[in-house]
Amino acid sequence: MLLIRLACEISLQRVIPTGCSSIDKQLGGGLLGGRLLLVYGEAETGKTTFAIQCAVNCAKTGFKTFFIDCDGAFFPRRMVQIAAHESKEIGSQIMLMKPETLEQQAVIIDKLNEYISKKVGLIIFDTITSLYSEALGDDKQSVFSLNRQLNRQMAYLAQISRTQKVASLVVGQVRSVMNKYDLVQPVAMRVLKYWADAVIILNPTTEAHVIKATIKTRATQKPSKQIFLKLGEKGLHE
Ligand SMILES: Nc1ncnc2c1ncn2[C@@H]1O[C@H](COP(=O)(O)OP(=O)(O)OP(=O)(O)O)[C@@H](O)[C@H]1O
Ligand SMILES: [Mg+2]
Repeated sequence: MLLIRLACEISLQRVIPTGCSSIDKQLGGGLLGGRLLLVYGEAETGKTTFAIQCAVNCAKTGFKTFFIDCDGAFFPRRMVQIAAHESKEIGSQIMLMKPETLEQQAVIIDKLNEYISKKVGLIIFDTITSLYSEALGDDKQSVFSLNRQLNRQMAYLAQISRTQKVASLVVGQVRSVMNKYDLVQPVAMRVLKYWADAVIILNPTTEAHVIKATIKTRATQKPSKQIFLKLGEKGLHE
């Protein structure tokens, strides 16, 4: 009986294709309902493009997206390019919010549970740490309380994802590190990685518009083999 219920729950799990089949394969089909995915990488590696692309694909599967644009980087023109001829219908499935402070971001997260209906398939935060970094820049003394606040926001987001069976995609900024293994790490790395079920790292390559993606999931822990993607007008694709 338990096995049948488990099988039903698995088969009912929502899956949103990312638009990159190699990434989907690593993630177990795409963005999974109930799971939180962290995407980070250097500037202009296609993080926002990837997020918009996932929102477009979510609409194509018949579900709405909450797109929380903390960077002011969601340009309708970019969405139209990616969605192509379906952009009108797809646009109406994306609900955009633009917090201007970390407190406003916290209010959005606290209220998400009220807004979410069965029609919502995806929650996107692009970038979850930009308002945190702004607040940190004003007052370096408050790093402890800001980390606590960010941790609380991530915990709540992960909980909403799980209980509502909605996929979450969180974009992180990076900072340079002098580490033999990694050249960059996400800002507030421990907090973000702790709550993520899977992580995608986007790196530039020497070739223009070619991006290298590496994926780590909680289940495998090991980084995937490198996936090379092309960043262009239609988005980020193999
Ligand atoms: N219409 C387009 N045609 C071709 N390439 C485009 C187009 N729009 C954007 N790009 C490419 O995407 C890159 C920016 O991608 P995007 O904004 O998704 O990166 P990002 O990682 O979110 O950057 P940031 O770190 O600044 O937030 C541009 O540098 C450009 O190479
Ligand atoms: Mg961006």
